[in-house]
Amino acid sequence: MNSILVTGGAGFIGSNFIRHAFEKSGFKGRLVNLDKLTYAGNPENLADMARACKGRYVFVKGDICDFKLAGRLFKKYKFDAVVHFAAESHVDRSIFGPKDFVETNIHGTFALLEAARSAWTGRKDVRFHHVSTDEVYGSLGPKGKFKETTPYDPRSPYSASKASADHLVRAYRHTYGLPVTISNCSNNYGPYQFPEKLIPLVILNAMEGKPLPVYGDGKNVRDWLYVEDHCAAIWRILAKGRPGETYNVGGDCEMKNIDVVRSVCAALEELLPSPENPALRGRNYENLITFVKDRPGHDRRYAIDFSKLRRRLGWRPSVDFAGGILRTVRWYLDNPGWIKNVRTGAYRKWLKRNYS
Ligand code: NAD
Ligand code: TYD
Repeated sequence: MNSILVTGGAGFIGSNFIRHAFEKSGFKGRLVNLDKLTYAGNPENLADMARACKGRYVFVKGDICDFKLAGRLFKKYKFDAVVHFAAESHVDRSIFGPKDFVETNIHGTFALLEAARSAWTGRKDVRFHHVSTDEVYGSLGPKGKFKETTPYDPRSPYSASKASADHLVRAYRHTYGLPVTISNCSNNYGPYQFPEKLIPLVILNAMEGKPLPVYGDGKNVRDWLYVEDHCAAIWRILAKGRPGETYNVGGDCEMKNIDVVRSVCAALEELLPSPENPALRGRNYENLITFVKDRPGHDRRYAIDFSKLRRRLGWRPSVDFAGGILRTVRWYLDNPGWIKNVRTGAYRKWLKRNYS
């Protein structure tokens, strides 16, 4: 690969992926990051990378739904791979306002597929990798795991929009022969995650002595994967995956939400003991746990069978939850400036200065 288009590279997983590409994968080419910079996109995530990889890293502020822009970028940069992260990604937001999810996740994916189809007619030496989620498979009972062959059963506007995109990607393979791969991954956590998702929200609230909201009975189960392991899996699929294939990615780490929240509290007790944190005012972190009204249509359990990726491409997670959560909590403790900017929207001013 000489020229890669990454979409949504200013978000959580995309920025970790770009870091992985430049620092760990041995990639020597050029990488273009196309991102609209919604509330979730933050170019500050990659400011050091932009400096270190000047000339090889290009940032383009733009919307993946813009057909003409996508076409122009394919022409100008002659991409031989696309890694498509850009999406509206938060289930709760999709419940309150599904429109942006349909636009970006479905129409945006369609626009990129069209640009790729037109630029790559007849080519086999290229790849369109679509980053998707395990949520397309629906919700599990107490037993079993999602396999690549599990029928789709999305149940939130978010998962329905991602499922639609997955179907479009497969249709472009089947109908036009576009060399695509898809990965369906479980819940990620790690540095640079926007504090609306469970783990960073709980870390920040706990640091500040605020309530830690746990939906319903706290017994919903998710399968957690450290973000760097997800990035390594995507890179492996890009390099070695077979066109037309789907690969499940997971952490082999099923946990009830309440246990995840307790693990965050334990990590904080280790790194910033509650008696030393004035925001706690004599309480400990676990005292902040507050059960709140459940999410409508809350999926009960996700669990991923990633044996295909392990068997065929030799990938497995390298970071266990105990280690990953310590690294994650430490990162948020070490980066108060990032937290302040993300929360106050100050990075938008920085953005204006640098990108307008
Ligand atoms: P994120 O919300 O942190 O980042 C999304 C990025 O996409 C942001 O930088 C945003 O500015 C950009 N974006 C949004 N709309 C855009 C548009 N119309 N045009 C261009 N850019 C746009 O999301 P994330 O958590 O990093 O997730 C990335 C991808 O991985 C998504 O496709 C998501 O469905 C998938 N995924 C996420 C998880 C998870 O646990 N976070 C798990 C599995 C799969
Ligand atoms: P989230 O991080 O939003 O990811 P997803 O909905 O894609 O799995 O939520 C993870 C789990 O945590 C999910 O079961 C909902 C629950 N949750 C809470 O209990 N409290 C919260 O404040 C949030 C944001 C999520």
